Amino acid sequence: MPLARFAIRNGTAADLDRLVAIAGADAHGSFTRATFESELQLSWSHVEVLELVPEGAAVGLLVWWWVAGEIELLYVATDASHRRQGVALALVRHLLARAVELGALRVMLEVRHDNAGARALYERLGFVVVGVRPRYYRGGEDAVLLDWRAC
Ligand SMILES: CC(C)(COP(=O)(O)OP(=O)(O)OC[C@H]1O[C@@H](n2cnc3c(N)ncnc32)[C@H](O)[C@@H]1OP(=O)(O)O)[C@@H](O)C(=O)NCCC(=O)NCCS
Repeated sequence: MPLARFAIRNGTAADLDRLVAIAGADAHGSFTRATFESELQLSWSHVEVLELVPEGAAVGLLVWWWVAGEIELLYVATDASHRRQGVALALVRHLLARAVELGALRVMLEVRHDNAGARALYERLGFVVVGVRPRYYRGGEDAVLLDWRAC
């Protein structure tokens, strides 16, 4: 079923359990409770959640940094039972709109080369490959560097 009504808001310490649960469905995920706790403290880090309306349940999360005129998308994830309903699409579109509002020069991210789902998502939104970091991840997989620019 496509995503109907939703709201995106800043995450807080009260969301920690939900953030950890959503990230926990990602077999390759490196975001732990400690990571979220740390991100929630950093002045340049933005942790956001997508909630279904009117249910109020957080089903997606987004973590990004705003540094030196650029945005780095660190992590986007959707609860396993709500995938392929447009949750990540809504979150990343929201980020791209923020990038335009902030006048960001670009939005960058890195993704596992074999993460076909995430790569399809980013490609659909206009991200382009700008580089590869060989054997970047612990398991030896390459990271693909992607960029999005407003114009
Ligand atoms: C990648 C991820 C965030 C996608 O979330 P999602 O909410 O299911 O994605 P959406 O429903 O918004 O998908 C939008 C589009 O992206 C593409 N896409 C998303 N997941 C896909 C998949 N598994 N396979 C192929 N294409 C996929 C499709 O084009 C999709 O549109 P469609 O459903 O109309 O075909 C989710 O699978 C996830 O949480 N994975 C674990 C965490 C992760 O890998 N994060 C990215 C690394 S930073």
